[in-house]
Amino acid sequence: MNILVFASRKGGSGKSTLAAHLGSYMAEQSRPTLLIDGDPQGSLALWHQVRDARDLPLYVGTKNLAATLAKARRDGVEWVLIDTPPNAEAAVAEAIRHANLVVIPMRPGLFDVDAVQATIQVCRELKKPYAVVINAAPAKNGSDDPMVKDARGAMQALDVPTWAGQITHSPDLSLSLAHGTGVNEFSSKSSGSEEIGKLWRALARSFEAIEGMTGKHAQSA
Ligand SMILES: Nc1ncnc2c1ncn2[C@@H]1O[C@H](COP(=O)(O)OP(=O)(O)O)[C@@H](O)[C@H]1O
Ligand SMILES: [Mg+2]
Repeated sequence: MNILVFASRKGGSGKSTLAAHLGSYMAEQSRPTLLIDGDPQGSLALWHQVRDARDLPLYVGTKNLAATLAKARRDGVEWVLIDTPPNAEAAVAEAIRHANLVVIPMRPGLFDVDAVQATIQVCRELKKPYAVVINAAPAKNGSDDPMVKDARGAMQALDVPTWAGQITHSPDLSLSLAHGTGVNEFSSKSSGSEEIGKLWRALARSFEAIEGMTGKHAQSA
């Protein structure tokens, strides 16, 4: 079972947005997925309520996280997506402790680049694989926008693994959520849908690599 935690101390970076879109993408692929809304603000739960569908089970809260995850494993869930609040509460560290991979969404911008460092620190302390995902970025014009280039440079200087792609700022991404859908369902041919698909494939590859490092192969090597 792969546990993906969306974390960042910066509110508005895109944790709930990416969790919902990736959740919807998983539902489309009919992969057994569990969403966990660990943020008392309840954005992911609200989206789920609007969605009104049973293709994506949702658990609200992280109080009994270990038990919830154990049950999910018994039920044959393949993917768990956990949304977390933008604070430094113990619940966020607890979610990260259970993660196989932590996704840190980051808007390109000075304040955002500065703010992710606290979350990176927690991942490093807990020895958890993590990756920054640049979100709500200006559209590419042949190459990365200067804002994105700057943000990538800052991450590189800090030796922070950063997804080579980007999620571009797009009204489709917020509009689709208001309808309880993901962008893949709302406008399947859009660039937003394509980007979420690319992110998904990159995450799946990362899980395979992590599994290779920590799983049977590494132990028998
Ligand atoms: N790539 C994007 N394009 C357009 N709007 C976005 C994008 N990512 C996030 N948003 C919008 O920004 C706001 C904050 O995003 P949200 O996912 O709630 O952040 P967080 O969960 O990290 O606080 C929401 O209104 C969301 O719709
Ligand atoms: Mg949120």
